[in-house]
Amino acid sequence: MANYEKLDFWSLKAQKEGYPARSVYKLQEIDKKFGLLPKNQGQINADFKVLELGAAPGSWSLYILRKLAGRGFLAACDISPLSHRVDAGLFDGQNFFFKQADIFAPDTQTELTAQGPFNLILSDAAPSTSGGRNLDTARSMEIARAALAYSDAALRSGGSLCVKIFQGAGAAALIKETRPKFNMFKTFKPEACRSSSFETYMVGLGFKKRF
Ligand SMILES: C[S@@+](CC[C@H](N)C(=O)[O-])C[C@H]1O[C@@H](n2cnc3c(N)ncnc32)[C@H](O)[C@@H]1O
Repeated sequence: MANYEKLDFWSLKAQKEGYPARSVYKLQEIDKKFGLLPKNQGQINADFKVLELGAAPGSWSLYILRKLAGRGFLAACDISPLSHRVDAGLFDGQNFFFKQADIFAPDTQTELTAQGPFNLILSDAAPSTSGGRNLDTARSMEIARAALAYSDAALRSGGSLCVKIFQGAGAAALIKETRPKFNMFKTFKPEACRSSSFETYMVGLGFKKRF
């Protein structure tokens, strides 16, 4: 294994635990801290629905599907395909739907929101980094805004949200707009984020649906 020595702690852990990417530990930490998914699988009924944007290669999807344990439903979307390398058939399960598409495409928005309403909406979607922080932050803001539009359209009253944003221009305004929509709102940077990364997550619990 030529690249083995170059893998960091989280990538090695992901390899050992059967996840295609280290990013799963960010979701695990957020879930442990905020209780995004029910701890007790007995509390998950057929009506429990999750929407995940920017899902490839599929670590978060696998984490969620393992926690759902055949109950509830997960709809996921990404421009790129999922990796089936370690999914053990979970991506072919009846409680999973994957759409390979751009989350900005109107027909994708219509198709995904029609599968709701959702108890939980997550977005780990991120632009391919250009190295230019201003450009990357601006693209990340557009993606986060798109995720919030899904939330406005299809998050259940009382539902939860977890959306990645890049800290930088526009982040404070977005946080200010989003905070009042939830009973509890925080920004949180998991330890599994690379220290050089300027990403953070907006977490909202108890969505106050206006209609
Ligand atoms: C950090 S990765 C997500 C990793 C994933 N959470 C996991 O654990 O496997 C970010 C993803 O966002 C996706 N993405 C970025 N812009 C997108 C868009 N407009 N529509 C759909 N997916 C997008 C990328 O293709 C990429 O796969």
